[in-house]
Amino acid sequence: MRKLIDQLARTSFLTSVELLDLLDHMNEADIKYLHERAIAVKKDHYGDTVYMRGLIEFTNYCTNDCLYCGIRKSNRNAERYRLTKEQILECCEMGNTLGYRTFVLQGGDDPYYTDERIVDLITAIKTANPDCAITLSIGEKSYESYKKYQDAGVDRYLLRHETNSRQLYESLHPDMSYDNRIRCLTDIKEIGLQVGAGFMVGLPGQTNTDFVNDLMFLKDLNPHMVGIGPFMPQKNTPLKDAESGTAAKTYVLLSLVRLLLPKVLLPATTALGSIDPKGRENGLKSGANVVMPNLSPTNVRDKYLLYDGKICTGDEAAHCRGCIEKRINSAGFVVDMGRGDHVSYKE
Ligand code: 5AD
Ligand code: FES
Repeated sequence: MRKLIDQLARTSFLTSVELLDLLDHMNEADIKYLHERAIAVKKDHYGDTVYMRGLIEFTNYCTNDCLYCGIRKSNRNAERYRLTKEQILECCEMGNTLGYRTFVLQGGDDPYYTDERIVDLITAIKTANPDCAITLSIGEKSYESYKKYQDAGVDRYLLRHETNSRQLYESLHPDMSYDNRIRCLTDIKEIGLQVGAGFMVGLPGQTNTDFVNDLMFLKDLNPHMVGIGPFMPQKNTPLKDAESGTAAKTYVLLSLVRLLLPKVLLPATTALGSIDPKGRENGLKSGANVVMPNLSPTNVRDKYLLYDGKICTGDEAAHCRGCIEKRINSAGFVVDMGRGDHVSYKE
């Protein structure tokens, strides 16, 4: 196992058979070694720094019905909200004061937010915060729409592929197609936005072979960012009784992604912090180098409930800003409040 890990760290590549071998056979000591190699590779490219992004969850209206997600359209118990342009600008202003230089605007697939409204919103945020990067995460759109967002000032786009196994993907996403998901990711990349893909860990029926598919897909796509978090059931969804993914498996996959894509921007996600009280710290110790504290107003925080047990739902943005810095320091890293572009990215 050590030989394979060394080879992966040295060449940033393993075959799918070798990756499966690792996932199936690593023991605790091997996994510890894997995490050490991943931290070292992260350090080569980013030193001890961890980037911070301010997350604004601006609408939980959604036309999709993903089986795992708490804001799926069939969830009649979800209390729907939508922030206005003014409220979003206030979040950014607060974020800017707290030092953030990236805002991540995330929302469900909400028809109210037409391209025109998104463009207007992005223009206003960029005008008020010219030195900040904007990351958008609002789902599957056409090539033309992604282009419009970019022209308005969007720098990055997050669209997790969720799972690269077609059958598993289609069983979890009624009325959506795996091919369209992948089309979106290739369009975003072609347009020249920094692109983020990613997947959940521990979906019902998901196997190590599925994870190998995810890893090989990521190696091939070569995105700037990869979001990985454990699946966690939400009580008003069809998967309410399913078992959650584990933190430990998520740490392993974070390290493997770090070694396959040495320069990738890799968040220690909120889901990871929700499943394990030390999840974000351990994520950083597995090779992650980004955290995304919440900037949404407190009165809507507890409504963006993709899964049960989400952390920070009652906390002010300023509290999270301080809390997360302490956590980053306790894990042995330092905060970098810059825009935090991918190291290969030239404006
Ligand atoms: N558990 C964990 N992650 C979830 N997401 C959605 N629902 C869940 C859940 N129940 C993730 C998806 C999505 C991201 C915004 O949140 O991967 O892309
Ligand atoms: Fe929000 Fe710790 S990051 S309370």
